[in-house]
Amino acid sequence: MATQLLKGARVVDPANQRDGAFDVLIEDGRIAAVGVDLPVAAATRVVQLATGLVLCPGLIDMHVHLREPGQEHKETVASGTAAAVAGGFTAVACMPNTTPVNDNAGVTGYILARAAEANLARVYPIGAVSRGQKGEQLADIAELKNAGCVAITDDGHPVATAILMRRALEYTRMFDMPVIEHCEDQTLKGDGVAHEGFQASSLGLRGIPSEAESIMALRDISLAELTGGTVHVAHMSARQTLAAVRYGKSRGVAVTCEVTPHHFVLTDEWLAQPMPYDTNVKMNPPLREAADRDAMLEGLADGTIDVIATDHAPHHYDEKHVEFDRAPFGITGLETAVSLCLDRLVHRGVVGLTRLVQLLSVNPANILRVPGGSLTVGAPADITILAPDLPVTVAATTMRSLSKNTPFDGWSLRGGVAATIVGGRVVYMNDAVQGFTW
Ligand code: DOR
Repeated sequence: MATQLLKGARVVDPANQRDGAFDVLIEDGRIAAVGVDLPVAAATRVVQLATGLVLCPGLIDMHVHLREPGQEHKETVASGTAAAVAGGFTAVACMPNTTPVNDNAGVTGYILARAAEANLARVYPIGAVSRGQKGEQLADIAELKNAGCVAITDDGHPVATAILMRRALEYTRMFDMPVIEHCEDQTLKGDGVAHEGFQASSLGLRGIPSEAESIMALRDISLAELTGGTVHVAHMSARQTLAAVRYGKSRGVAVTCEVTPHHFVLTDEWLAQPMPYDTNVKMNPPLREAADRDAMLEGLADGTIDVIATDHAPHHYDEKHVEFDRAPFGITGLETAVSLCLDRLVHRGVVGLTRLVQLLSVNPANILRVPGGSLTVGAPADITILAPDLPVTVAATTMRSLSKNTPFDGWSLRGGVAATIVGGRVVYMNDAVQGFTW
């Protein structure tokens, strides 16, 4: 494989305390050197990057629904990983609520085979906590781990009972894996479809109180303390849940958490306008109030929140274009996340680029114990090149994902992805970014 020297970018590599102008040398798909004015050997191809571009360790989205096997009309491993690399992600972890559920080595192996065929982003399957995600019997966690799963979850649903969660935390301790929890007390959620509050009431929608999420987070944090296991709170939406995570961390519990871009950008006011009952603002957990959105921004800024993940949940047009009550929960996220993060977090001064790279790369790699998250010499050359000032207009029709269920269609944002490199291979280049050819 060729040797490339990337010059001219600002390199942001928090794991190695780097932020500045450095050259990055790639050899045989791995990082061979990072330094100032590296010497150019005869066979090396020099790639001069335009001023203003930012080079960082490849972004990792630890919460993605790839839908294959079984729901290929929404997404496939190939289309989902094409969306991932277009969104700047060099790796994704995929949720087990497929058909059949990923609760055994056969399904895990199938997903990995599809990912190898697609040969775009790296794919880390996440196995189910319970067989069929039914909340009754534990899945065979050793089998899932040996097959390549990096975590377990019943996402889409919570782990049904406290005793099942206790056992999951005890078993995963032996395998050094986190249990990822979709925090939701289903008796409190009932048949709610939107955040319980003024907006849902005035539109006549059944509500889901914030406590449906925070009560379950408190249960699981207590069980993580009891067992010494590791729990990761998925797609946190409520300020009460953030308080629960803070409490757990203050007690030294192994708890981490993630927030999605939609929960730090949107509020339940989007239920009413610009288009009332728009099913592209129906997701689970629901969009909450301004105070919750602001709490998420605070948690991102102060370090309480560990990860930004998209909860990319593709659904077909026909499934989403029904009455609000009947539409499935979820929106796509892979191809809008970076622009939303740069526009709403970096350009508005909520976080700097170093913290953003921790949230999107370093921390997900650490939580899932997967390679990546740094530009350390010898590591696979998984690299994202960001164009922080690129004007971006979101266009659902041109997205790689098979599904177009995004509330951000038509939005103008500042910042995007210039290129995505996996194992030293360019898997995505944005034609709109001037200033370099590979
Ligand atoms: O909005 C959501 N959609 N939340 C979930 O937890 C599941 C997901 C899906 O699978 O569509």
